[in-house]
Amino acid sequence: MIQCAATRPEALTGSLGALRAPRAGPPGTALPLHFPPAPRGLKGRAAELATLVRTIDDTRPARLALVGAGGSGKSVLACALGHRLAPRFSRRLDWFRVGAWDFRTLAEMLALRYGTSRERRALIPELRAFLHRGERLVVLDNHEDDRAMARLLDELAGTPATFVITARRCLLSGVLVFPVNAPLVTTGRTAFPRVARLTRTLRWNPLALDIADSIVASGAATVADIARFLEANDATRVAVIAHEDDLPEVALLVAWAWPRLPADSRRMLGVLSHIEGDHVDVDSLARLARVRAGVGAALAPLRRWHLVQEPMRGRYAVHAVVRYAVAQRTSFGADRAFAHYVTMLERSPGRLDVEQTHLFAAMDHAHRSGDLAAMLRIERLLERL
Ligand SMILES: Nc1ncnc2c1ncn2[C@@H]1O[C@H](COP(=O)(O)OP(=O)(O)O)[C@@H](O)[C@H]1O
Ligand SMILES: [Mg+2]
Repeated sequence: MIQCAATRPEALTGSLGALRAPRAGPPGTALPLHFPPAPRGLKGRAAELATLVRTIDDTRPARLALVGAGGSGKSVLACALGHRLAPRFSRRLDWFRVGAWDFRTLAEMLALRYGTSRERRALIPELRAFLHRGERLVVLDNHEDDRAMARLLDELAGTPATFVITARRCLLSGVLVFPVNAPLVTTGRTAFPRVARLTRTLRWNPLALDIADSIVASGAATVADIARFLEANDATRVAVIAHEDDLPEVALLVAWAWPRLPADSRRMLGVLSHIEGDHVDVDSLARLARVRAGVGAALAPLRRWHLVQEPMRGRYAVHAVVRYAVAQRTSFGADRAFAHYVTMLERSPGRLDVEQTHLFAAMDHAHRSGDLAAMLRIERLLERL
């Protein structure tokens, strides 16, 4: 989950005006560069997908929110939906991880992707003109700030863009709310046959079941081993949780994995659980986690046990629920992420398109810490971009 200040100082946003994004996706490729690949092994979603496809078909341009608990499968469903609908939208699909960014940052994210002006007065008119060019499906993943989202959707109303939001909660009118439950939970059946007997203990949560399933598939433990571990650690005990991303069953699976992970893998997971920007490429991950050799080997167990996600090829992230569990066990200085990404963008401004959330996170960090030198460094960087 991206944490950020509600607003950013105008001094930092003002000079972003002339920025232009590289073209999205080489011509002729199946999908744009900025949409995650179709989920593999999607389970128990046939009915929801059929309903969502029909709903969007009947009402587009539509505004729809997939709303459900952390790890209930909203993002995976939105992704599958995008792939299912791709032909209807002439393969114009976009994915933005919106988190808690303020309205201006959200609009700038879109402008950066679409190559429209980020100058204050031209920002919205150019975005609207761009969206009027043709129907497209825009996924706004991980929505958290109702005010920012309301303003964004309102400013872009009347364009042929269909918006699909994913959110744990969504207090917005004018948006069709589609509740997302864990796959098959309302039918009482299990979507993960290999770990079927864990379904109840893990409360049908697909994030937990998927991690357990991949641990068992890897041969590192049997279903009985995991069941015993969960029971021994009071997985079903009633307790107050801190917030929607505090899922004890997922924290327990992380606890099972933790001592079995090499130190390099643990540091990588720690970095991904603290970094405020979105997905991280392998090279940055290795540097930030101080993994000097055997980067692939360090990533392997994290991938094998589905503790990390790969939303873009070669770029890694952790789910907010795993993030919360891992963050309790690790620490990481935000100033290191700041130094890494600001230095990278100073050297390679062309990477801004893909690393943009790290720049926004760096701006927030500079603002939060009140570090004038850091703010000036960003200001100079922005002037060059
Ligand atoms: N229908 C599904 N089939 C298989 N795995 C799923 C399904 N839905 C979710 N998952 C697993 O749970 C994880 C979390 O799902 P995600 O969609 O990211 O949750 P959220 O509701 O928080 O957006 C996914 O990375 C995937 O491993
Ligand atoms: Mg999600």
